[in-house]
Amino acid sequence: MITPGEFKQRRKHLMRHMKKNSIALLASAPAVTRNRDVEYPYRQNSDFHYLTGFDEPESVAVFAPGRKKGEFILFCRKFDETKAVWTGKHAGLEGAKGHYGADEAIPIEDFAETLPTLLDGKSMVVYPIGMDTELDRQVMTAVNTLRRKARTGAKPPEEFIALDRMLHEMRLFKSADEISLMRKAVDVSIQAHKRAMAICRPGLYEYQIEAEIAHECMRHGLRNAAYPAIVAGGHNACVLHYTENTAQLRDGDLLLIDAGAECGNYAADITRTFPVNGRYSEPQRQLYDLVLDAQLAAIAKIKPGNSWIEPHEAAVRVLVRGLVSLGLLEGRISKLIKDEAYKPFFMHRTGHWLGMDVHDVGDYKLNEKWRLLEPGMVLTVEPGLYVSPSCMEVDSKWRGIGIRIEDDVLVTEKGNDVLSAAMPKTVDEIETFMGASR
Ligand code: GLY
Ligand code: MN
Ligand code: MN
Repeated sequence: MITPGEFKQRRKHLMRHMKKNSIALLASAPAVTRNRDVEYPYRQNSDFHYLTGFDEPESVAVFAPGRKKGEFILFCRKFDETKAVWTGKHAGLEGAKGHYGADEAIPIEDFAETLPTLLDGKSMVVYPIGMDTELDRQVMTAVNTLRRKARTGAKPPEEFIALDRMLHEMRLFKSADEISLMRKAVDVSIQAHKRAMAICRPGLYEYQIEAEIAHECMRHGLRNAAYPAIVAGGHNACVLHYTENTAQLRDGDLLLIDAGAECGNYAADITRTFPVNGRYSEPQRQLYDLVLDAQLAAIAKIKPGNSWIEPHEAAVRVLVRGLVSLGLLEGRISKLIKDEAYKPFFMHRTGHWLGMDVHDVGDYKLNEKWRLLEPGMVLTVEPGLYVSPSCMEVDSKWRGIGIRIEDDVLVTEKGNDVLSAAMPKTVDEIETFMGASR
């Protein structure tokens, strides 16, 4: 759990790094309609949650360093008895102050009217420019209101900068409590992947496996997935973001599952690819071992001081060498790498930052150079090979095989910690695990 003290510390950190006489604004995620008067389950905007822990829509957080009446203002819904009966808990203005540490809480209906006063005399406004049309419009309306009042001494701000950089740099480095939440998300996801492996049989449908994953995560109290599960049998695995999950699983095919639970708004993101009938065929095993070698080579490059791109480059080197020795590519290794000849089989990067957003925020380059890994960063390592069923340039035995192996890795002082290490990964481990559940 993230304590109120940690949320407060994040706000303090942000405000300490803001320019003198600036003000920051951040709006909550909107509630989204699914159909008529039914909404999708609500998920707070990650930046907003990171700074406030306040998971209600129709809110705006304002950070005004040095403001006499309080530095953290939360505009939110007033407490409403009827709303409480129909849709349940909401903090109201008292809760915003009492539970969430707001110095001042103001009804959201008053935001547009209050904003010009908050901006008057400030030199800079820090907010997620262009990310929220309604907030963009409200800020510009307030600026124009101040322009019109210039003769009365009002002074509109002149500089507008994106909030993203500063905030996302903070989010990139995970605290001990954030890592605990990520460990829980990963541990429960491992249970879910194991359950899927144990239950998998030819003849089942992809959605039946998806149901097992959801069941296991919810059983452990994690009701939300970090992203829609990819349950891709056979050549569906060659569609990178396959989420239809409607096909029947066939004897002799592989099943690729990319699924992760969310815990306290932190994501797990794990992929395993295993045989539907519990035994890899020879070509499947050869490609699987190659992807695994690439993944292990990439993980070995994760330590402080190495650059972000080194794991990817290590994975590419192993994959290209292997593709040549298996006959899927021909030519000189260095030239094949330079020409990106592997791209028809491996078209994505080896990983991404992981955190509150599954593809988490944080710069990958600093001053145009790949940044160095530092303790507290969490990233995925997920090389793959995808041989399209229509790839006529390779032997037919490879066609339609799609494999990805994905783990979640924390950069530590000494090297790395594979958070998802408890999940069976080698051919032997997977076949033994599946054999025991048959
Ligand atoms: N689950 C999305 C990804 O692996 O990036
Ligand atoms: Mn994934
Ligand atoms: Mn991923």
